[in-house]
Order: sequence, then structure tokens, then C-alpha cells
Amino acid sequence: MLHVKLIFFLVLLAGANLPACSAGGGDDDQFVYSGFTGSNLTLDGAAVITRTGLLELTNGTLRQKAHAVHPVPFRLRRPPSSSSTEAVRSFSASFVFAILCPDADACGHGIVLFVAPADHDFSGAFPSQYIGLFNGSSNGDAGNHLFGVELDTDQNNEFRDIDGNHVGVDINSLTSIDSTSAGYYDDAGDHGFRNLTLASHDKAMQVWVDYNGTAKQINIAMAPLKMAKPSKPLLSTTYDLSTVFTIDKPYKVGFSSATGSFNSKHYVLGWSFAMDGPAPAIDIDKLPKLPRFAPKHKPKLVEIIPPLATATFIIALGTVSFVWVRRRMRYTELLEDWEVEFGPHRFSYKDLFHATDGFKSVNLVGVGGFGRVYKGVLPSSKLEIAVKRVSHDSKQGMKEFIAEVVSIGRLQHRNLVQLLGYCRRKGELLLVYEYMSNGSLDKHLYGDDDKQILDWGQRFRIIKGIASGLLYLHEEWEKVIVHRDIKTSNVLLDNEMNSRLGDFGLARLYDHGADPQTTHVVGTIGYLAPEFGRNSKATPLTDIFAFGIFILEVTCGRRPIMEVPQGDQLVLVDWVLENWHRGSILETVDPKLHGNYNVDEVYMVLKLGLLCSHPLSNARPTIRQVMKYLNGDMAMPELVPTHHSFHTLALMQNQGFDSYVMSYPSSMAPSLSPMSNLSA
Ligand SMILES: Nc1ncnc2c1ncn2[C@@H]1O[C@H](COP(=O)(O)OP(=O)(O)OP(=O)(O)O)[C@@H](O)[C@H]1O
Ligand SMILES: *[C@@H]1O[C@H](CO)[C@@H](O)[C@H](O)[C@H]1NC(C)=O
Ligand SMILES: *[C@@H]1O[C@H](CO)[C@@H](O)[C@H](O)[C@H]1NC(C)=O
Ligand SMILES: *[C@@H]1O[C@H](CO)[C@@H](O)[C@H](O)[C@H]1NC(C)=O
Ligand SMILES: *[C@@H]1O[C@H](CO)[C@@H](O)[C@H](O)[C@H]1NC(C)=O
Ligand SMILES: *[C@@H]1O[C@H](CO)[C@@H](O)[C@H](O)[C@H]1NC(C)=O
Repeated sequence: MLHVKLIFFLVLLAGANLPACSAGGGDDDQFVYSGFTGSNLTLDGAAVITRTGLLELTNGTLRQKAHAVHPVPFRLRRPPSSSSTEAVRSFSASFVFAILCPDADACGHGIVLFVAPADHDFSGAFPSQYIGLFNGSSNGDAGNHLFGVELDTDQNNEFRDIDGNHVGVDINSLTSIDSTSAGYYDDAGDHGFRNLTLASHDKAMQVWVDYNGTAKQINIAMAPLKMAKPSKPLLSTTYDLSTVFTIDKPYKVGFSSATGSFNSKHYVLGWSFAMDGPAPAIDIDKLPKLPRFAPKHKPKLVEIIPPLATATFIIALGTVSFVWVRRRMRYTELLEDWEVEFGPHRFSYKDLFHATDGFKSVNLVGVGGFGRVYKGVLPSSKLEIAVKRVSHDSKQGMKEFIAEVVSIGRLQHRNLVQLLGYCRRKGELLLVYEYMSNGSLDKHLYGDDDKQILDWGQRFRIIKGIASGLLYLHEEWEKVIVHRDIKTSNVLLDNEMNSRLGDFGLARLYDHGADPQTTHVVGTIGYLAPEFGRNSKATPLTDIFAFGIFILEVTCGRRPIMEVPQGDQLVLVDWVLENWHRGSILETVDPKLHGNYNVDEVYMVLKLGLLCSHPLSNARPTIRQVMKYLNGDMAMPELVPTHHSFHTLALMQNQGFDSYVMSYPSSMAPSLSPMSNLSA
């Protein structure tokens, strides 16, 4: 084998005037790391080699990305000289990994073993669902020349992920060409399938990736640590990597990882790689130890602590309590016994005060129906937060309120604004959220000032994102959560322009402590389903109605209720419907797009908007169906004109909405007038 390679090398030097190979022969064609102590991996982002020799890609901090690359690149294709020439050579990789997620329901985003051009730059990649490889625009670009094997711990509908625990083959995109749930075929016993959980904490697992350059076959196997490589691969797929890897470039091999908004830690314990042969064996016995997942039990040291240390401890405790008492006096807040269990979700007023520079008005980012929102930076973690101050005098229901805040804080999804915690003072409640640097969507749609016009691609992605967030609330959480107040001002954009639904579930919370004798309509006029006027009952289908209005609004760039010159009000959905009947629906599209949009997508979204905002609730699709329509996985049913021809406004008036609609002040922006009684 070696002399064949040598001949190629000589031909290369003598004949073709190509740059010399950097990974030509012998030892450079393979490597093995049984632990990473003393290794020369090229690291970036959060990646570090720990003292014990672990490759720690992420450490649990949110929105981290990390890359670890073997320092020497490889020539994946032989120079074009003789017959069999250009095909990508066979290669194999093997590695041992572990993923730690404190909350099994919210684990992101995984690890990718990748092969990419040596000069490929990951600095533009996002630390989120793109697992540190791409961003919204580079995902799917054939110019990436990237092959990856993803260990994905999060189901992302945008990439048509099959589940939240899968292995996939990625070519230039996170939408895998083939994927399967994690597991292995047992060589012992019945040769049956055994599933594995990727986020297995302290139980490391081994993965083998083999590419056969002759058969153009990619095989992936995995198994619990110490088990031999299963003879039947978990996933086997045929793909000619010669269409991916160019002939002129050296290629690097490495790992990529990202946490997004999930608290997860990603580790690689050992790694090997070889060209033209099986990956060298990793010495399992030499692998570094993983950090203990939950260091609960008392260390033995406690028993032999010398009295001096105890004294130091007591003094420290005394100092801490002194400081604490002083702080309590300076920054008074309410803290009752029942709140102890919510400890981790409770922020101190002092921290919030300092984070926002004492709630200075320069830090005010918005005023909503329920209170003011301030931007802040937590002093300890440097995390950017948004603090919403809601005035709330009522003692009644406070315990349930906080319990719900905490339970909502457990919801984690890339299309939801994470609620981090709360703080309570006399007469007010402070809710702490992740800060969304690109503000709320309504400002992008209507703000004529500094904001750039959103193009259709961005709008379509925003719509899909919100659908995905809503799917999570309606169907993927342990109980159904009705948002109750979907509207463009409750859709926020993070620094990657991902759309995130804010304020979920809280609309109902604001009702606590209000006078139970009066019915309060929580929600925003223009987004309220007709049946809501009848029974004031929020259901997933009333959310779908509001979602329908929302997507029409995003596509048309107009508010749900518009003022027309005669002083009348025009309801967006009726206007779109009229144009639909007249066959002029594309005239409703936001003129600011100047006709630059994908006609099929726009047409589908407008039709979906009408379908979702159908006055009859049972004609509306579920959010799961909506996702399928948006992803093109299912064709939309035809709108039957006879069933949809009555005007929403007329219908709403019949249902007792007239007073709301008619008394709606024209000078007031709809997004700022929730039809609710604020509990005060
Ligand atoms: N997490 C956040 N990050 C950045 N800005 C935010 C955040 N939350 C809210 N804002 C800003 O503050 C404004 C007010 O938000 P808020 O949710 O209080 O009101 P709203 O959505 O306009 O109305 P409502 O109170 O009826 O929901 C938003 O429009 C947005 O610009
Ligand atoms: C790392 O690089 C240094 C200097 O370039 C070299 O001396 C050392 O042997 C390398 N170590 C490994 C494990 O490759
Ligand atoms: C995690 O890594 C980041 C840098 O990427 C660092 O700022 C942070 O302090 C680390 N956190 C812990 C718990 O080690
Ligand atoms: C996306 O990534 C590409 C390639 O890395 C980069 O050129 C581009 O600037 C990035 N876009 C954003 C919005 O970061
Ligand atoms: C894993 O296997 C068990 C039984 O072996 C099965 O009950 C369970 O549904 C499987 N889980 C997944 C996610 O397939
Ligand atoms: C690659 O595939 C060819 C053709 O199917 C087969 O003959 C060869 O043994 C395979 N190589 C390896 C290393 O499995």
C-alpha cells in the first residue's frame, strides 16, 4: 500500500504542477488520542482540554459554540493521474463522547464530527441549532463542502429532525440526508436493536464512522463504552463524497458543538482517525474520567476537617450572613417561606438593580400593557437579560402565580423567550427573561426608522419558527399550554434573527388576583377568535386563530385592524379574503417587499393564514398540521369559499364583540392595547 502511495506522490512532484500534499504518507495519515493531555488540537469557542485530559466542548453556559480540530489536514482525494484517480479515499473515525444535560427535556444541541476544507471558517456560525457549523444563510450551501455526522439531542422541525435523540449524516446542511434514532444492533443474543440515549451523563459511548470510497458507502455504528464495534451498523447510507470534497484542497477533521438556550455539556474522551483503513483502536483504559454529574454525596474529607477549618467556616458564614442582612436592609424584597423551593428561580432585587443600572431610563427597552421592560446585564454571569416590572399588589394567588412562573421557566425551546426567573417586592413582581437583541417583530414590520425591511426569506423563517414554538407549547410539553396572546409585539428576534414567542402562558397569570366577579378578556383585539366572545375560553384553536392573523400580518405588513380614509376600520383577514375571492391575493403582499418573494411560499402562507383564522374553530388546522404545510410535507386543503365567506367583523359583532371593536381608539397602536383588566 505504502509504495503505491509513494508512486502517486512522485508522479505529483514530477508531473503535475500541484502544491505538495501536507498529509502525504505514513503516520500523518492517521492519529489516535486516548485522552487529550498534551495534544495539539486547534480549539476555538468554548472548547478546552481539562486538566484531566478531557476535551470539553461546552461547559453548560448557554449560547456557546466550540470547535476542536486535529492540527494536520488530510488529502481526501488522490491527485488525478491514473484510472481510479479522483474518488474520495476511504476513511474511518472513531470517538468516545458524553453529553450531560441536567434537564433531560431540554438538551441541546449535540456534537458533530465533521470533515471540512482546512481553510473553512466557522466564525460566522451560530451557537444554536446549527450546532456551531452554519448560520441561517450558510446552512444548505453547497459551497460549504462539509460532511458531518451529527449526534443530535434536540428535535428541530426546521431540519426535519426525526426525534430529539438521533444520529444523522449531514452534507452541507443540518437537514440530514439520512438519520436514525440512537442505538445499536446487539451482536450478542437476539441481534436486536437496543436504543441508547445520547445525553447519557456519565455513561460515555463510542461511535464509529466509516466511509468506503469504492462502494461510496457511509456506515455509522455506536455502542456503550467497552463494547466492541457492532458488526451491523446503526446507519448505512450510500453517498458519493466526491461531489462534496473538492480535489484541490486539504481537509480538516474535527468536532463542533453548540448549546443554544439549553444547559448542556459536551465532552469527547478519545478520538482516532485513519485514511484508507480502520481507525486505530482507542485505549479505553487510558480515557480520562468524566466529571461527576451530580456531586451529591458528602466527601469523606468532611469527617477529617480540622477544627481550624471549621472555625474559618463559621467566621465566613458569619460574614456572609452579615452581608446578607445588610443587603436585605438596602434592597428590601418580599420572601416568604413557601418560596424556598423556588430558590434557584429567584433573583435578588440587588442583582436586578445593578444589572439595569438602577432601572435607569436609558435601559428601558419597551413599555407593554403590563409594565416596563428594562435591559440589563447580570453582574456575575454577564448574561444579558430583560427585566419586566409588573405591578401586582394582590397577595391572593401569589403562590400559584409564582409556581406557574417557575413551571414556565422550565419550558425551553429555541423559539420561546426563556423565562429565567423572578423577584418579588412589595407591590410589584419582576420577571427576568433572556434578552432579545433584535427587539420585537412589530418594530421591524412597521417601524420606519432604523430597522431594515425584513425580506421574504426572513419572514418565512420567522413564521416557521413561531409555528415550531407553538407546536412545543401545544403538543410537546407535558401539559397543553395555551399562549393566549400571540401577536407581532410578543414575537421577539434574537441576535440571529430567530423568532421567539414571548409572554407565553402569562396572560392567564395576570388574571390572578383580579376581581373574579368580572370577566376579563385577556388577549388583544384583532387576534381574538370569534368563539372567544361567546365563552371567553382560550384553547389551542383560539391560539391558531391568532397565529393565522399573525402570519397574514407578517406577509401583508399590515396591522390586523387598519384605519381606512373614511375613518372606518378594515379587518385584515376580511381584506385578504376579498382579494382571494377576486383572484388578486398577491396584491395583499407587503409592498415593501417590492415583489421580491417566492410566489409559491407567499401564496401558501396567505392561504394558511385564512385557513387558521377561519371563523369556525373546527375548520382550523392543528399546529402539527400547520408545521407540515409550512414544511411542504403535506398539501393544504382547498379553501372552500362558501364556508369562509362571512366576514369576521360581522361575525364578531354578532358574538358580542362590537363594543370592543367600535370603541377601539384609532390613535392607539393595536399592539399596545390588550383588552384586559390589569390586576393592580
Ligand atoms: N426579552 C426581551 N428582550 C428584549 N426586548 C424585550 C423583551 N421582552 C420585551 N421586550 C421589549 O419590550 C416591549 C414591551 O414588552 P411587553 O411584553 O411588556 O409588551 P407587549 O408585548 O407590547 O404587550 P403585552 O404586555 O400586551 O404583552 C416589547 O415590545 C419589546 O420591544
Ligand atoms: C505538539 O506540538 C509540539 C510542537 O509543535 C510538538 O513538540 C509535540 O510533539 C506535539 N504533540 C503532539 C502530541 O503531537
Ligand atoms: C464556561 O466557559 C465560558 C467561556 O466560554 C466561561 O466564561 C465560563 O466561566 C465557563 N463556565 C464555567 C462554569 O466553567
Ligand atoms: C453566515 O456565515 C457565512 C459563512 O460563514 C458568513 O459569510 C456570513 O457573514 C454569516 N452571516 C451572518 C448573518 O452571520
Ligand atoms: C427504547 O427501548 C425501550 C425498550 O427496549 C422502549 O420501551 C422505548 O420506547 C425505546 N425508546 C425509544 C425512544 O425508542
Ligand atoms: C468497500 O466496498 C467494496 C465494494 O463493495 C468492498 O469490496 C470492500 O471490501 C469495501 N472495503 C472495506 C474496507 O470495507
